[in-house]
Amino acid sequence: MDLSNRTVLVVGGTSGIGRELARRFASAGSTVAVAGRNPQALSELAAEGFGTFGIDVTDDFSVAASRDAVLARYPELDTVVTMSGVMLLEDLRDPAHFETTRTTIDSNLLGTIRVIDAFTPHLIRRGAGTFMTVTSGIAFLPFPPMPSYAASKAAVHAYSEALRAQLAATGVDVVELVPPDVASAGQEKANPHALPLEDFATEVMGLLSQDPTPHEILVRGVLMHRWAEREGTYDGLVAQRAKALIMLPGRQN
Ligand SMILES: NC(=O)c1ccc[n+]([C@@H]2O[C@H](COP(=O)([O-])OP(=O)(O)OC[C@H]3O[C@@H](n4cnc5c(N)ncnc54)[C@H](OP(=O)(O)O)[C@@H]3O)[C@@H](O)[C@H]2O)c1
Repeated sequence: MDLSNRTVLVVGGTSGIGRELARRFASAGSTVAVAGRNPQALSELAAEGFGTFGIDVTDDFSVAASRDAVLARYPELDTVVTMSGVMLLEDLRDPAHFETTRTTIDSNLLGTIRVIDAFTPHLIRRGAGTFMTVTSGIAFLPFPPMPSYAASKAAVHAYSEALRAQLAATGVDVVELVPPDVASAGQEKANPHALPLEDFATEVMGLLSQDPTPHEILVRGVLMHRWAEREGTYDGLVAQRAKALIMLPGRQN
């Protein structure tokens, strides 16, 4: 993918990985818009020169209104990144966890599908473009303290594969970004081994610039998650990661 001449919308670009990739696309020469809910972050990004749009991916009307506003300003839009997501802990021994499940699935899975649906007719009409979906190493190697998160990301992986097949021959490609632990949104505190955001973004832009663009953007730090089943390390790694259940409030075991 030539990163220097795209017109990119990063939904979920107001912080963390999305904001960093928005900046990287812009410094590579692309035109970049970001969307999210946080008004302060949006106005700071507008001051940096980004097109900014309010969106709540859990709300059908908000997604449709943002889509209309984005396409009115950027009729040449060719790349949509579905970065929005929440990463929430859940204690499945407490039935009250279900509200977390609902929020997680609505934001991460249904939110991704809402945004893709909103822009699919436009990209098909253009006859060229890219959806970049965002999953996680946790889609392939569960992290037991975040069960609905793992389920949502495994679902986005499966959805991305099917979407790619359904859009074949339309000129619209689907690229799945699979981050490992990246030091954004407080991950550096939860996991001192989290990959620094800048290093992650540099590796991602390098992989994205390959021609043809890989279907999955796998930085080195995520390979052990992505291929654990194939490599026979899956059971051991899940057992090891289950030790992190101690981080759930009130859990001794
Ligand atoms: N950091 C990691 O270690 C890691 C690892 C694997 C995968 N990921 C995935 O990478 C993506 C970005 O994560 P991050 O670490 O950069 O987290 P982050 O800094 O918390 O960013 C999350 C983004 O999602 C947006 N968002 C959340 N709910 C939304 C909603 N209802 N409507 C619209 N936007 C919404 C937020 O924007 P507003 O608050 O402005 O709405 C923000 O821009 C997520 O999908 C995450 O699951 C992260």
